[in-house]
Amino acid sequence: MKIMKLSAIALSILIAVASCSTEKKTTEAIDTKKMLDYCIAKTVATMNSLTAADSLPRNIYPGQTRWNKVGIHYWTSGFWPGILWYAYEVSGDTTILANAQKFTEPLQGVLDVPVDNHDLGFIFYCSFGNGNRLKPDSAYHNVLLTAADSLATLYNPKVGTILSWPAMRAKMNWPHNTIIDNMINLELLFWASKNGGTQNHYDIAVKHAETCMKTLVRSDYTTFHVAVFDTIDGHFIKGVTHQGYADSSMWARGQAWGIYGYSMCFRETGKPEFLETAQKLADVFISRLPEDGIPYWDFDDPAIPNTTKDASAAAIAASGMLELSGLVKDEVAKAKYKNAAVALLAKLSTPEYLSGDKNQAFLLHSTGHRPNGTEIDASINYADYYYLEALLRLKKMEN
Ligand code: GLY
Repeated sequence: MKIMKLSAIALSILIAVASCSTEKKTTEAIDTKKMLDYCIAKTVATMNSLTAADSLPRNIYPGQTRWNKVGIHYWTSGFWPGILWYAYEVSGDTTILANAQKFTEPLQGVLDVPVDNHDLGFIFYCSFGNGNRLKPDSAYHNVLLTAADSLATLYNPKVGTILSWPAMRAKMNWPHNTIIDNMINLELLFWASKNGGTQNHYDIAVKHAETCMKTLVRSDYTTFHVAVFDTIDGHFIKGVTHQGYADSSMWARGQAWGIYGYSMCFRETGKPEFLETAQKLADVFISRLPEDGIPYWDFDDPAIPNTTKDASAAAIAASGMLELSGLVKDEVAKAKYKNAAVALLAKLSTPEYLSGDKNQAFLLHSTGHRPNGTEIDASINYADYYYLEALLRLKKMEN
């Protein structure tokens, strides 16, 4: 495919064709190739509009058409390079490759300042991790190992988890806090343990996942956003929320991080309790989806249906459930998670959720931090990242 020669007209046609072809019920199969082409065309259009390599697409608010950008220290900085790596993986286009490298390398600067949150996995595994997977490179390898070592410094052996938000210890009086999102950062530690790191990287990741299974995961397999622990004896004090509707509610993206994280932990360890947790988190998520198939930002917001959706939660859950369907042995369960993932992707691939020519992103209708009043009904770069990742996973499964 001569991706770089796509003109603006060709892009519009591609978007229109993609949208029309997906106006069907969500249970029907998705045209994976067509949607991947759509993502690549939009990636190239964004890529060609960017100048500074350390200014990274983050969000687009309703009514805006172009990406608002952030610097390398934001937790979302790895997603744009990650999108470029996936677009390169799909297309083989060397101009996209050059841009993937260009937008990955400035992120090294994150390691020049003292670690102040757990997001190193998001930042480095999406960017350098995908880069090293597709184009093995000793410099990338070393950056990943340094990032894993830095992440490991946040581990508290008394508690058995990584500290997510150091700043919240004083601000919220949360002596040691761990959020469900942190499950995703464990992939960097698992990678390090197999690629020149130590057994300690593996042990921290496993212990973190085990502790969260007993604290962040509730007995009904919904999840807290934040677990607060005592630092003297390490006990679990309470589960609370930060980005969800209430301490007791099921924040949609948190549940999606859990599905994705525990599936990945089973892949890396073979521990059956992680697989069982991933399945039960997915079962709750699937059983509580609204009629149109895309979650509201929090499953327990009493304003439903008069509140916002979260396309990012749908995309993360879809990618996680595709992995899960490849891990379970039982054929019925395998089909259940694959069908649920395809249904999410199919709905996201309709004109209601595709940004088309409305803005530069792939998707509309994500909710970032509703209690904070930010990124409500917006396009957000991690929704795009996981949507593209899920399409790529589906394509590999189809092959
Ligand atoms: N990791 C932060 C979020 O999901 O919004």
